Amino acid sequence: MKISSKKNSSAKLARKAKPAAARSAKPDARLLDAEQFLLPTYKRQPVVMTHGRGAYVFDSTGKKYLDFLGGIAVNALGHAHPRVVRVIRREAARAIHLSNLFHNAYQGPLARKLSEWSGMDRVFFSNSGTEAIDGAMKLARLYGRKTDEPAGTTAKKHRFLALENSFHGRTFGAVSVTSTEKYRLPFAPLVPGVDFVRFNDVADLEAKFDDTVCAILIETVQGEGGIYPVSEAFWNRARSLATQHGALLIADEIQCGLGRTGRCFAYQKFSSKPDIVLIAKPLAAGLPLGAILTTEDVASRVSAGMHGTTFGGGPLACATALEFLHIVEDEDLLENIRARGSELREGLTKLATKFDFIRAVRGEGLMIGVELSVEGGPFVSEAMQRGLLINCTHDFTLRFLPPFLITRAQVREFLKLLELVLATTPRQASAPDSANSADPQRVAHATAR
Ligand SMILES: Cc1ncc(COP(=O)(O)O)c(C=O)c1O
Repeated sequence: MKISSKKNSSAKLARKAKPAAARSAKPDARLLDAEQFLLPTYKRQPVVMTHGRGAYVFDSTGKKYLDFLGGIAVNALGHAHPRVVRVIRREAARAIHLSNLFHNAYQGPLARKLSEWSGMDRVFFSNSGTEAIDGAMKLARLYGRKTDEPAGTTAKKHRFLALENSFHGRTFGAVSVTSTEKYRLPFAPLVPGVDFVRFNDVADLEAKFDDTVCAILIETVQGEGGIYPVSEAFWNRARSLATQHGALLIADEIQCGLGRTGRCFAYQKFSSKPDIVLIAKPLAAGLPLGAILTTEDVASRVSAGMHGTTFGGGPLACATALEFLHIVEDEDLLENIRARGSELREGLTKLATKFDFIRAVRGEGLMIGVELSVEGGPFVSEAMQRGLLINCTHDFTLRFLPPFLITRAQVREFLKLLELVLATTPRQASAPDSANSADPQRVAHATAR
């Protein structure tokens, strides 16, 4: 085989790779490979993470980080949970993949458990959140099509409503209902028939809802958008309009579901249920697995061959997901999420009285956002230097998504580290005034890009 003679621009790459390689003489070859061969879709931090233990992650130099990012809401059980490791080892030695042409030992029992947690009737397993969103959009189009509207024609009821400031994923369907323009515009034309409703604006919702709508998609708590919970008034009105117009209410709980808010699902604080619930991130404790949960009514429109996936619902991922749900129950983690979550918010609210550039502390359970009046990026880098993993969303909101099993001592450790970070990081550009409001509706306008 002929080996490519592509050249490293080694001086530049070595400079970029420096922090991780700083303690060794040569730049890390793995970083150089990544720089040279990966599609440049991410601005990655120049470190190689090698392993984790509980709420801590370690890089290739041996540096330890307290993980308040959790693989972006995935590592709900931290790293190397012994029960998760045991199940993965056991199942890897049995069958990693069998195909959806057969039953496996875990898909049915996992669907039953998810039905118990959510109150939904039927489950379809996908590989990711975005794939679950696209599948749900297909179900909504199917549900909206009347029997006298032949397949292949545009059904009268085909429009989707989504919210400003939303994030639903990167595949064509999901990016079409994601409001951020920089994610959408390069790929136009997108899925047609999508309109965005102002966040928590009931009047705008009423104006845009009619008989042509087949579904409204709502993140029960907006994650990428900066940790904004949907209001009860908005949820209730979306529910009643969807019922009145024969449309589906779809709850995207990919980031906020499966315990993150201290309830099994974030929508369970409302008195009414959605027609479809979408989950992914923590479901299989780090293995890729998503799911569409829905009602018998929606499921009755589906027949064999209409939708499918090669990898979704494989035995390894499903066995691990079942173990994840059992661990959350056995270790009483919902209670821990609520208790640690309020300690965190209390501590952060105290920090807000010390640092006048903290404009708001938002969130529920272990999904918390701290909105700053200055850019958040430098704080993320400083935190990393000090051994703390956090991230920043929409430029001005620091986001904390620690594992469900975080301890009281780790919450204290986090607050101490964060205080140091807030005190020592040089501050950069200020947020525009409109991104500074505690009113999510105004923020939605200001930050949707
Ligand atoms: C609310 C929400 N929906 C959908 C997605 C897309 O999920 P995935 O990255 O697994 O495709 C994400 C990912 O961040 C998300 O936060």
